[in-house]
Amino acid sequence: MAKTLKVGLIGLGDIALAHVPGWQASPHTELVAGSYLRPARREIWQQAQTGMKFYDHPADLIADSDLDIIDICSPNMFHTEQVVAALEAGKHVICEKPLAPTPAEIRKMIAARDRSGKLLMTAQHMRYRGASRALKAEIDKGALGEVYHARAWWLRRSDLPPRPTFIYKDRAGGGACIDIGVHVLDMALWLMGYPQPVTVSGTARIGLAHHAGAFTTYEAGLVPPDVDVEDFAAGLVRFENGATLVLEVSWLLHHQPREDVKVWLYGAEGGCQWPSAQLHFSDYEAQQLVDTQLVWTEDPLGPHALECMDFAQAIVEGRPSPVPPEQSLVVQVILDGIYRSQVQGREVRLS
Ligand SMILES: NC(=O)c1ccc[n+]([C@@H]2O[C@H](COP(=O)([O-])OP(=O)(O)OC[C@H]3O[C@@H](n4cnc5c(N)ncnc54)[C@H](O)[C@@H]3O)[C@@H](O)[C@H]2O)c1
Repeated sequence: MAKTLKVGLIGLGDIALAHVPGWQASPHTELVAGSYLRPARREIWQQAQTGMKFYDHPADLIADSDLDIIDICSPNMFHTEQVVAALEAGKHVICEKPLAPTPAEIRKMIAARDRSGKLLMTAQHMRYRGASRALKAEIDKGALGEVYHARAWWLRRSDLPPRPTFIYKDRAGGGACIDIGVHVLDMALWLMGYPQPVTVSGTARIGLAHHAGAFTTYEAGLVPPDVDVEDFAAGLVRFENGATLVLEVSWLLHHQPREDVKVWLYGAEGGCQWPSAQLHFSDYEAQQLVDTQLVWTEDPLGPHALECMDFAQAIVEGRPSPVPPEQSLVVQVILDGIYRSQVQGREVRLS
């Protein structure tokens, strides 16, 4: 029986709470420490996590020689410094998305990971939904044939998260692209088998956030007037294998009331959509259209918990990182390309 891996959490906000059940349910881990508390949060965590020790500063938690895994749930702009420090201290690291807001920072993390010999995983929890697993298994069996086009979008009509973690460039690194774009882009690329992108033409702009009276239903209130990141972005990506992908993301858009989140893949033999996990084919002999609904079960623990458990399992089994930073680098290279394309007003090369 392998020794229990001791886990320390950095950034005790909303998403950290979603990771806790995973560390508690894994047979391989024990959640023992957390750091950087707002006084209001301290009480919630002390009540919920009896036995956890708390550090005021992340550096002190990282220096704790008892810990084997550091789980980083701080705002985006602190990820790089904390991931690199944790790897250098000899810990395995799981870090919330976006792994970092720029490709250069992810490259630094990859170098630190290589020096440390430890595992680094991005917390892309959507891969752990039942529908995602079911669809990925079908695609990997070749159900779609060669995939030549994908569409990925996450469109919200009035759902801009008004907290500093998300809406200021110096904290978040970007807006809708970085917050929700990374999820659907990772999903599309993962389902496609992570082809190598070569160019992107994109736009990233503040569409409605600076409109007088702009409001958000996210935490019901006015949009802070000094938002300095994009609330809308779109891009067309071309890949080395000839495939293409269209991405659209928004926090504020004159769109349908309900949040609209989808990925579609189109291949030579079939198409599919996520998250409904439906497949679409043509029976050429019978000249008929055929639709298939995949069936899956959802684990009651939920995808955030499952990703943490899988990370621990990968460490114990000596498997590679379930979501390697090299894949998050591809995501960030594309998003960075969209930003550059907006500034330059033309298609840009990604390699
Ligand atoms: N996977 C998902 O579905 C999902 C959802 C929401 C957020 N996230 C990601 O999780 C991260 C945190 O988001 P959140 O919604 O929990 O934000 P949040 O604002 O609720 O929490 C962030 C926490 O980090 C603390 N903090 C601030 N500066 C810090 C520092 N230098 N070091 C350590 N902690 C610090 C804050 O006090 C706060 O408690 C972000 O990277 C975000 O993109 C992921």
